[in-house]
Amino acid sequence: MSYLLLYSGHDGQTKKIITEIALHLRKAGAECDVRSLQDNQPLNLAPYEKVLVGASIRYGHFNRALDKFAKLHAVQLNQMKTAFFGVNLTARKPEKRTPETNVYVRKFLAATPWKPTACTVFAGALLYPRYGWFDRMMIRLIMKMTKGETDTTKEVEYTDWQQVEAFAAEFVQI
Ligand SMILES: Cc1cc2nc3c(=O)[nH]c(=O)nc-3n(C[C@H](O)[C@H](O)[C@H](O)COP(=O)(O)O)c2cc1C
Repeated sequence: MSYLLLYSGHDGQTKKIITEIALHLRKAGAECDVRSLQDNQPLNLAPYEKVLVGASIRYGHFNRALDKFAKLHAVQLNQMKTAFFGVNLTARKPEKRTPETNVYVRKFLAATPWKPTACTVFAGALLYPRYGWFDRMMIRLIMKMTKGETDTTKEVEYTDWQQVEAFAAEFVQI
């Protein structure tokens, strides 16, 4: 079994999640190639049995590389077993952590020609000290409006690692 695992992110959480998934898949006996969607290298999906894509949200949007990839490879992706997960802070609230209730994932799935076999949403990380001044202030404002953490000295990881492991197991089964 050979799987292609692609990620798009900015501060490392999506890469961390996909690396953890790769660990579980390798334990289950699979070969995994982990690649960034943002390095703009051509991708050949043909050698792979399944494809998994994870992407994070920044100011309301996935990276453009996600849309580009999904549109370019939709026909082939729709003939394979594939999975997608979105990462964002809205999903720190469990009721906004499903493809149906997470606004970013719902909109992406409605708009893209790619129809993933499996899909989920993971809560990301809030890393105030690592952000530049502008991003820190903007995220703090959003957190205040949504009753979240506003202490800018803190780093909080909301990702549920049991949910990540469960999704890796689901990916094996699809
Ligand atoms: C500048 C910035 C903008 C963000 N915008 C949003 C947003 O609009 N909605 C949201 O739910 N989360 C937002 N987030 C949270 C990220 O999706 C979250 O931190 C995630 O873990 C980032 O994953 P990455 O490290 O792979 O990029 C934002 C984070 C940053 C730093």
